[in-house]
Amino acid sequence: MSLSFAEEVRKGLSSKPKFLSSKYFYNEKGDEIFQEIMKMPEYYLTRSEYEVFTMHKEAILNLFGGGGKPFQLIEFGAGDGFKTKVLLKHFLKRNARFKYYPIDISGNVLEELSADLKKNFPTLGVKPLNNEYFKALDKLDHSGAMRKAVLFLGSNIGNFLHDQAVSFLCQLAKKLSHEDYVMVGFDLKKDPEAILNAYDDPYGITKAFNLNLLKRINDELGGNFDTTNFKHWPIYNPLTGATKSFLVSTKSQEVFIESLQQNFSFKAWEAIDMEISQKYDLDTIKSLGAEAGLEVAKEFFDCKHYFVNTVFKRI
Ligand SMILES: C[S@@+](CC[C@H](N)C(=O)[O-])C[C@H]1O[C@@H](n2cnc3c(N)ncnc32)[C@H](O)[C@@H]1O
Repeated sequence: MSLSFAEEVRKGLSSKPKFLSSKYFYNEKGDEIFQEIMKMPEYYLTRSEYEVFTMHKEAILNLFGGGGKPFQLIEFGAGDGFKTKVLLKHFLKRNARFKYYPIDISGNVLEELSADLKKNFPTLGVKPLNNEYFKALDKLDHSGAMRKAVLFLGSNIGNFLHDQAVSFLCQLAKKLSHEDYVMVGFDLKKDPEAILNAYDDPYGITKAFNLNLLKRINDELGGNFDTTNFKHWPIYNPLTGATKSFLVSTKSQEVFIESLQQNFSFKAWEAIDMEISQKYDLDTIKSLGAEAGLEVAKEFFDCKHYFVNTVFKRI
């Protein structure tokens, strides 16, 4: 059973080391800041995946709509759908037989996406689902009448540790038939400087994105975090491929959270582990899929090979 926001905060801030789940970055303000991040020149991820779709949209349609079978295009964590719209536009132009199911826990971002799609793609069949990935997936038609093509884009998979990624893909694979596809966007290993710059921007946008979670705790749970007492510290480890973001307490301090009726103590220079953004190589992607019972059906790259959209099928 999934824990509530309050209980996850209690668990994370009581642990050693302290951590907070990055899925809570996305409230209304967080959605807004993430859209600013995606526009930063340093944040190559969005541009790379956009390029993948622009270059390969026809091949992607041939795969998903192969044999003329209708399909359900299901997107986990759809966000503002900026890149997906490249596919939607093309699929509509080609009169593909499909319906789009954007899933997101952020009701705010989903409302904006729905309004945008209604305006710009009035003929598109859309059913937005404001829920956690698997709760939403369970609500869909599993009769097999329509092929499922599940999108998990934006290197969101990189926010999981390896074991979490395997169990996530396993859980997904169990819901798929041998006809279905999963397309996952993976950020590839590259020049460490390019990677670190994407998470350590000079404008302080990524810093604001991280601190916004402390503000969210203040607003929604009655916390009294003073965000000026925390320093944003991103690192990239080229050995493990992990980019990590921390908020470091710059002094010894106590934070009280009213709805938990609990004080949390921070030592000077104690860190909160905020997010992992894993970078991959192709062999690791293949073995990750295999551990979850999935095989690579197709790989789509951008020009620089910064990013890959891997399509998996059940083994
Ligand atoms: C990093 S954004 C990516 C958005 C988009 N896929 C892209 O590539 O630009 C992640 C999105 O996933 C949503 N999300 C995160 N965890 C989720 C979960 N467990 N269930 C449903 N949506 C989730 C967030 O609300 C957010 O809109």
